[in-house]
Amino acid sequence: MSELLRLEGVSAGYGEAIVIEDVAFHLEAGRSLALLGRNGTGKTTLLNTLVGATRQRGGRIVWKGQDITGLRPDQRAAAGIGWVPQERNIFKSLTVTENLTAVARPGAWTPARVLQQFPRLAERRHNLGDQLSGGERQMLAVGRALVLNPSLLLLDEPLEGLAPIIVEELLAAIRRIVRDEGLSAIIVEQNAMKILDITDEAVVLERGRVALTGSSERLRAEPDRLDRYLAVSRDTA
Ligand SMILES: Nc1ncnc2c1ncn2[C@@H]1O[C@H](COP(=O)(O)OP(=O)(O)OP(=O)(O)O)[C@@H](O)[C@H]1O
Ligand SMILES: [Mg+2]
Repeated sequence: MSELLRLEGVSAGYGEAIVIEDVAFHLEAGRSLALLGRNGTGKTTLLNTLVGATRQRGGRIVWKGQDITGLRPDQRAAAGIGWVPQERNIFKSLTVTENLTAVARPGAWTPARVLQQFPRLAERRHNLGDQLSGGERQMLAVGRALVLNPSLLLLDEPLEGLAPIIVEELLAAIRRIVRDEGLSAIIVEQNAMKILDITDEAVVLERGRVALTGSSERLRAEPDRLDRYLAVSRDTA
C-alpha cells in the first residue's frame, strides 16, 4: 500500500493560540481513520489544519509524498483533499441536484451515483437546500464532497444531532463509501463505538495532543482504555 498522508510534529492554532501540538500519524491510501476526543480537544482544528484553514506553527504535512505545508486551501482541495465541515455547508437556494452538479468534477463520483448511495436524497432531488431536514442536509454535504472526487474525505461529526434512523442510514452509506469503495477518510465522531466499527484505525486526541493510536478493532475491544479519553461515547455501542 502507498502512503497518502503523513503528519510530522504538526502544531497549529488560530492567531497566537496554539491548539494542536506535535501531532503525528500517517494514513495509507484506501484506509480510513477515526479521529476521537472530548469536546474542545482540537479535532476540528486538526481537520482545519489539513485543509489549510489554521495557522500552522510547526511540523510538516506530507500528501502523496509532497510537502503541502505551504499550500493554500484551494491548492489542497485541487490536490484531492475533500472536506465536509461541521457546519454542513450547502447552497440553500439551489435544489439537491443543483447543489451536486454545481460543484462536480470529473471522476467516479457523479451526481447520479451520489443519489444512488442516498435514496433519501434522490427522493428530495428537486427540493431546495433550505427545505431539507438536518439529516438530508448532512447527506447532501457528504455528496457535495464526493462529487469533487477527492482522494481523501474529511468528515467532521457527520452524525451530530441526527435522529437514530438517519444515523443508521448515514453510517451505512459511509461504510459503503469507505469499506466497499475504498475511499480514504478521516472521520471525527463523538460516538466512538459506531465509528470504530467502520474505520480501520483511530487517533485519540487529548488537549491537542495524540493520546492514543491503534487499530479500530483493538480500541473497540478495549473500551476501558478509550473511556479514559472520551467522556460519553460508550453507551450506544
Ligand atoms: N476560530 C477559532 N479561533 C480561536 N480559537 C478557536 C477557533 N476554533 C476553535 N478554537 C479553540 O480551539 C480549541 C479546540 O477547538 P476545536 O473546535 O478544534 O475542538 P473539537 O475537538 O473539534 O471540539 P468539538 O468536539 O466540540 O467539536 C478550543 O479551545 C476552541 O475554543
Ligand atoms: Mg469539532
